[in-house]
Amino acid sequence: MKLSVIGCGYLGAVHAAAMAELGHDVVGIDVDQAKIDALSAGEAPFFEPGLPEILVSATATGRLRFSTSMEDAKGSQVHFIAVGTPQKKGSYAADLTYVNGAVRDLIPFLNPGDLVVGKSTVPVGTAEALASMISESGADAMLAWNPEFLREGFAVKDTISPDRLVYGLPPEEQAASAAKALLDGVYSSALNAGTPLIATDYATAELVKVSANAFLATKISFINAMAEIAEVTGADVTQLADAIGLDVRIGRRFLGAGVGFGGGCLPKDIRAFTARAEELGRGESVAFLKEVDAINLRRRQRVVDLTVESLGGSVNLKKVAVLGLAFKPYSDDIRDSPALDVAVQLRGLGATVVATDPHAIANARKLHPQLDYVDTLEEALTDADAVVLVTEWEEFRHLDAEWAGRLVRNRIMVDGRNSLDSAAFRAAGWTYRGLGRP
Ligand code: UDX
Repeated sequence: MKLSVIGCGYLGAVHAAAMAELGHDVVGIDVDQAKIDALSAGEAPFFEPGLPEILVSATATGRLRFSTSMEDAKGSQVHFIAVGTPQKKGSYAADLTYVNGAVRDLIPFLNPGDLVVGKSTVPVGTAEALASMISESGADAMLAWNPEFLREGFAVKDTISPDRLVYGLPPEEQAASAAKALLDGVYSSALNAGTPLIATDYATAELVKVSANAFLATKISFINAMAEIAEVTGADVTQLADAIGLDVRIGRRFLGAGVGFGGGCLPKDIRAFTARAEELGRGESVAFLKEVDAINLRRRQRVVDLTVESLGGSVNLKKVAVLGLAFKPYSDDIRDSPALDVAVQLRGLGATVVATDPHAIANARKLHPQLDYVDTLEEALTDADAVVLVTEWEEFRHLDAEWAGRLVRNRIMVDGRNSLDSAAFRAAGWTYRGLGRP
């Protein structure tokens, strides 16, 4: 099928390349010339495992191209909207400027029977408003909402083999079945592989995405709240998570207590959800998400406080090695990154922060040039007065306590991800501090 993907960020670039890899003829469109140039040359403009490989292979087939001109969307049957919905400045609400703008700019190039498919995470009610925008323009095109659940770091796999497909279809029966048939064509390989499909209305589809992220955020903040209780009782939250996680109704995943969640989705999605619920007069229904957010942000402060405490009450002029900048491993994304936040706060308290990360240094440096960045773990650790682990990259998780101990000035480790072997570090003479652990 001929597809266009509007917006070539973390979501759109992967979607475009993956759809071409699956056999579709795809044009990816973005206003950012540098991004389009990189993608056209088969280069991923950000770090995402597996993306460079499929960009090269799909481009070689001639089925994948990129452009800055919306006119190139003309002739595609299905148009995916994959632009960002960041948090509005000075508000919790989502900024819909890019989504509205993308659809408005696409309208002149729609052919009768085309399907516009929203993939961006949006406040409930957005799809209905966009469908009206399309019909009022006189374009004879349909709209569907098809939320994306990909995780950064696993985006290629999640796009090619999703764990579920959700279609939010138009209210009119004929349009709904035409839209469904087009989406079934797009996703035929996943459907043939038995991927579960939920076909529903716009509002449900929009809410599925927002509520999935709200649930995940709540799960993380739940265990982080237990970490806070563990801290005043001497309990160990990691063992607690193991024990409650063995109940299949609870499950161990997303019970990783630590410095908390960040990234381009969870934090802004829970805030946008609260803002939207308030607009709908149902603020109290999701008021708990404000607590989820507050618990999460407190954990960043806790890592900073533990570091200060471990250094005897002040980090001023102390060298602190910060291991990790990305919001999670396998990503170079620093949007709302707890790791970077901790680094910046420590620097604000007078510490000489020397930070390292396998992939996120370039992005971090652009935003916070005041920090010192080094490429190797060895440089970061050398003569450090304290070490703070805030993104659990493999190379940090497997840090050798003896080797690292010989490099640092003080054997002080603040493990913001509870990802090290605390016994091995203590045995090597380190003062080891985890979160929610004795
Ligand atoms: C999330 C959703 O998982 C995905 O389905 C949605 O499409 C986009 O938002 P992503 O932002 O890529 O994906 O990251 P995710 O793997 O969910 O992690 C989010 C944050 O939670 C990270 O900062 C991670 O470090 C943190 N986290 C995760 C924890 O602190 N503890 C855990 O147990 C799990």
